[in-house]
Amino acid sequence: MGKLLPLVRLHRATLGYANEAVLHEIDLEMYPGDLVAMAGPNGSGKTTLFRTILGFLPVLSGSLTRGCALNEFGYVPQSAALDATFPITVREIVEMGAYGRLRPFERLPTAEKNRVDRVLEQVGVGDLAARAFFSLSGGQKQRILIARALMVGPRILILDEPLSGVDTESRAAITELLLKINRQEGKAVFFSSHDLRMVRSVTKKILRVDRGRASWEEGAAADHSW
Ligand SMILES: Nc1ncnc2c1ncn2[C@@H]1O[C@H](COP(=O)(O)OP(=O)(O)O)[C@@H](O)[C@H]1O
Ligand SMILES: [Mg+2]
Repeated sequence: MGKLLPLVRLHRATLGYANEAVLHEIDLEMYPGDLVAMAGPNGSGKTTLFRTILGFLPVLSGSLTRGCALNEFGYVPQSAALDATFPITVREIVEMGAYGRLRPFERLPTAEKNRVDRVLEQVGVGDLAARAFFSLSGGQKQRILIARALMVGPRILILDEPLSGVDTESRAAITELLLKINRQEGKAVFFSSHDLRMVRSVTKKILRVDRGRASWEEGAAADHSW
């Protein structure tokens, strides 16, 4: 078997903003089928790393290469990013995930509308399509944002703190959902969390970020402190 091309590769990449480097000399390779978690305290640069991979921020030095197109990335932003009062239905939110593939002024084709129903079923909220997004629980919202990200037909799904702002029960269910998407569909999944213990229970590939540096951790370790 030939060597797989990484979907994303950072090589000695320093990330951050024009006047502030946030993470120094990061090495990372994500392959098809990978399940990778990024763990680090608030402010350590998790969102910065995702936004760089997604092309919103340039690398300050080192290199970033992608083995797939930007429109093959599914992105679930940190939940605070969505205005809680914006009046929009679940179906409309998920339909937005397909807009990137439409030509200007093209209406959403029936096949895509049907896919919205299938994707909502897949994430376990098939009954919520007509509901107002802002009226739902944190866990339900997170599933719907995952559904929207799946609408792009991603090869890699990036989720920024998908377990924050959801109750304990939904956390377990959303974790299961991520594992299912990764295992059954072979999609690469890269998610962040500030809960190292949770992350260790889910995946063996952990990128720990803290105080400007990143290190890789394999499997479960006894030390739960930063
Ligand atoms: N737009 C920005 N311009 C300058 N600095 C930023 C910007 N966004 C975030 N930062 C800084 O980058 C650092 C990492 O932030 P962030 O990536 O959001 O961390 P995390 O997602 O781990 O909480 C913080 O010190 C933050 O203040
Ligand atoms: Mg963040």
